[in-house]
Amino acid sequence: MTLYGVGLGPGDPGLLTVRGKRALEAAEVVYSPGRLSRSVAREYVPEERIGDLDFPMTKDEEELRRAWTEAAAAIAPNAREGEVAFVTLGDPNVYSTFGHLRRTLEMFHPDIETDLVPGVSAVTAFTTALGVEVDAGAGLSLREAAAGTSPTGPDRMVLFKVTDAPATHEGLVEAGYDVRYGRRLYMEAGETLVTDDPHEIADRDYYTLAYAEKRDLEKKRATAAFETSEGDSESGLATIGDEREELAGIVDGGTRIERSEGCEHGDCIHAQEGENA
Ligand SMILES: C[S@@+](CC[C@H](N)C(=O)[O-])C[C@H]1O[C@@H](n2cnc3c(N)ncnc32)[C@H](O)[C@@H]1O
Repeated sequence: MTLYGVGLGPGDPGLLTVRGKRALEAAEVVYSPGRLSRSVAREYVPEERIGDLDFPMTKDEEELRRAWTEAAAAIAPNAREGEVAFVTLGDPNVYSTFGHLRRTLEMFHPDIETDLVPGVSAVTAFTTALGVEVDAGAGLSLREAAAGTSPTGPDRMVLFKVTDAPATHEGLVEAGYDVRYGRRLYMEAGETLVTDDPHEIADRDYYTLAYAEKRDLEKKRATAAFETSEGDSESGLATIGDEREELAGIVDGGTRIERSEGCEHGDCIHAQEGENA
């Protein structure tokens, strides 16, 4: 009686979670909305248990509603009999068809339960692939940048659906951002590319994202103290030690600030400056 929305991760079958793998193995039918998700699911599920569903790449809401309704009608009878799964690249709750499908089922087949298995989303996979560290205290915003658009505002953004990198790049650079691109990150199908040159990825490939960061963004890192402690290592360590004490919450007069668990290892040094950690 349950439909599991299973996040497959970015496309490398090795990045499917253990829980996701178990859900696929237990499902009587595994529904796939496209070729790429199908090829990942095929690593864990035999051909005869995979059911294909067709979702048109259109903005026409009427057409989309028809596709979701038909998909829900195809899934419901099997979900009534037992467990079935719907796979989606990345995470099923991040820019995914699964949300539409879940709501359609709730509307027309309310007896079907839905459950989710999170997946490694491009939202987090990009950090490792592009060598970006989201520091403690930093903000990160998620935006869509389809058809050459250039959203601006936040200090750091992950941009999804970058289909015209040169046009998007122009707007971002003008607004004061440094930008890096990632295409087909951790995907077995196609060529993985990481670049800061938008012309290298000028051809359209839907599986392209960008990371934009305001130029000259000031980064306050506790480890910066290592760089200033030059010369005599003993005095350097003393400086760092003093700083650590301060970061650990010991202020003038020996008063100790109450700290949450997450702050133990310097993860919230900005909390002292009034930010939430
Ligand atoms: C409809 S969204 C799906 C997001 C997915 N549910 C997730 O959590 O990662 C598709 C967009 O995600 C980004 N994306 C997803 N997987 C990617 C990958 N492996 N490499 C680069 N970008 C990816 C691209 O920007 C693409 O246009």
